[in-house]
Amino acid sequence: MYKIAVLISGGGTNLQSIIDKVKSAYLDCKIEIVISDNEKAYGIERAKENNIYAVALGKKQYGDKLSDEILKIAQEKNIDLIVTAGFLSILKGDLLKKFKNRIINIHPSLIPSFCGKGMYGLNVHKAAISYGVKVSGCTVHFVDEGTDTGPIIIQKSVPVFAEDTAEVLQKRVLEKEHEALPEAIKLITEDKVKVCDRKVIIENN
Ligand code: GRF
Repeated sequence: MYKIAVLISGGGTNLQSIIDKVKSAYLDCKIEIVISDNEKAYGIERAKENNIYAVALGKKQYGDKLSDEILKIAQEKNIDLIVTAGFLSILKGDLLKKFKNRIINIHPSLIPSFCGKGMYGLNVHKAAISYGVKVSGCTVHFVDEGTDTGPIIIQKSVPVFAEDTAEVLQKRVLEKEHEALPEAIKLITEDKVKVCDRKVIIENN
């Protein structure tokens, strides 16, 4: 059974979508552990409510060593896939080497628009609205050394209306995130995803 680790920093609605999809047997994998860089993340409650082992690695306590600690845990627990879902710390070092193309991230825009440093949460949707785009959406991508720069697996789009506020757009995009992330996990656990340089080839797609 594919074992995944989900990394969170906040509310964990993307974590919840994975939990729900495992429960409904849409996903044939096990959430082995939830790791949060924020002791107060509500996502930790979501894990506990579903009897999933959760651990908080406070940014202040681990600082630069956070990625090394995550690697240690992932190796100890024989994790197959790491999923960053609303996770705000940047992963680096050996973790990225040892888990090359085995870490995926969900970002609330159509990368390469509105991504990179400082582009998280509402900032993303404020930037999209002030730019005046007519379409936005979400992207699931592999994590590499950059920020939101890894090969793209899935993107889902939503319309942007003139009267949209950042909060309204965030809600519309979040609904698509909750579809896209489980879909990407399913493709990976079914070994239907191949990475060729920057391109991600999906079998039967
Ligand atoms: C989501 O928009 C996600 O794309 C971004 O963080 C936001 C909150 O995610 N990375 P969650 O509700 O904590 O899963």
